[in-house]
Amino acid sequence: DAAGSAELRTPIVAVLGHVDHGKTSLLDEVRGSAVTAGEAGAITQHIGATAVPLSTISDIAGNLVDPADFDLPGLLFIDTPGHHSFSTLRSRGGALADIAILVVDVNDGFQPQTHEALDILKRTQTPFIVAANKIDTVPGWNPNPDTPVQATLEAQSDRAENRLNEQLYEIIGQLSEEGFSADMYWRVQNFRENIGVVPVSAETGEGIPDLLTVLMGLSQRYLKSEMSIDTSGPGVGTVLEVKDERGFGTTLDIVLYDGVLRDDDTVVVGGKNDPIVTDVRALLQPRPLAEIRTESQFEQVESVRAAAGIKIAAPDLDDAMAGAPVRVVRGRDLETVTAEVRAELADIEVVTEEQGVVVKADTLGSLEAIAAALEEAEIPIVRAEVGDVAPRDVAVASTAEEPKHAAVLAFNVDVLEDAVAEIERVAEVDLFEDDVIYQLVEEYEEHVAAIED
Ligand code: GTP
Ligand code: MG
Repeated sequence: DAAGSAELRTPIVAVLGHVDHGKTSLLDEVRGSAVTAGEAGAITQHIGATAVPLSTISDIAGNLVDPADFDLPGLLFIDTPGHHSFSTLRSRGGALADIAILVVDVNDGFQPQTHEALDILKRTQTPFIVAANKIDTVPGWNPNPDTPVQATLEAQSDRAENRLNEQLYEIIGQLSEEGFSADMYWRVQNFRENIGVVPVSAETGEGIPDLLTVLMGLSQRYLKSEMSIDTSGPGVGTVLEVKDERGFGTTLDIVLYDGVLRDDDTVVVGGKNDPIVTDVRALLQPRPLAEIRTESQFEQVESVRAAAGIKIAAPDLDDAMAGAPVRVVRGRDLETVTAEVRAELADIEVVTEEQGVVVKADTLGSLEAIAAALEEAEIPIVRAEVGDVAPRDVAVASTAEEPKHAAVLAFNVDVLEDAVAEIERVAEVDLFEDDVIYQLVEEYEEHVAAIED
């Protein structure tokens, strides 16, 4: 029913996991499978995302997916680099992603960023499945490119199959230690209560049909009711990255999760001080089939409809923040929209005290996640901001009454040169840097323990 489906948006799927566990390779393999299935043109590359239509998913999944059983238009995958916290992906009141794939290397098992991703999935109550990746590296593995898991398992020696099962049960055990009941996906009945584990290989394509089938089924079953959007309404999105782009100045990479964004819209964006009101100059997509990471040539589009990743070129974006909301004004009162953006920012705002540590982070979402971790550890915060460590941060830290509070905790940001000089000058201030939240907190706690000894 074309009219009905036109109002259901594509679910947003975040791909997350530890560095090098194969997130990008999995998406590349989905694109590769589409080429094999003669559907190369059907996949569209967005800014920071890949859109795969239902027809392509069904072609890749073969008899696992009958398109007649679905009315969601497909899936929009967002790749999150391992060093970039998944917590960036937030929307009003929670996670930006409707659903997630947690990628775990079967050889490597759970690693720091796997734990961190799980914490965030837990906190935001995002439904997810686990892709147990790199099954082709099991000793003695007999690869069967692009086949569903059950078929390839039947073609393995007992030895290889047992070896893989050991690794999979290790992962299932680790999930259970984190409080998630999990099992092989084909044994899971209720994907809300039990986490399905899908063995895959991004190298051979084994299990990719299963992965897409499970995601599509889960979305259809549990998310459909949340996917209706007003297809002409003013767009709403989240800033993924604030980036300088040659010829365009400061631009925003955003994920639009509701409504429509047009190239003549006025938008309100969360900024470091007040919300920024600006007029879109251009909407930019990567050119078809171009490699997103190295893309410098964009194609201008007139409008985009949720869900989509898009780059916005507009004046006055220097103070925009990753993780901040973006709202289209079109036909609405500017004051009302600005108030909405302000309210969303206030939701994220971190509670600060008279005394405490200084926290700097790359995005609003990561700042929020660190604040939650510090609160749990009963560590007060005096100042929390998005941005690189600047001399001013060191100055604030140096006014701490207690030595243990004379600290700057930096997550995924740079330390500006004059701030480095300031830290050297003001000897009592300590700097802690890490790209894993709980490690950052632990390093600081160890430091405090050492001081108090
Ligand atoms: P970051 O973006 O840095 O966090 O890493 P990532 O999770 O995107 O990992 P990526 O896809 O870049 O893969 C890391 C390495 O693992 C690459 O050398 C891949 O070729 C390899 N790799 C990924 N998936 C598989 C797989 O299924 N089998 C094998 N043999 N190698 C794989
Ligand atoms: Mg990657």
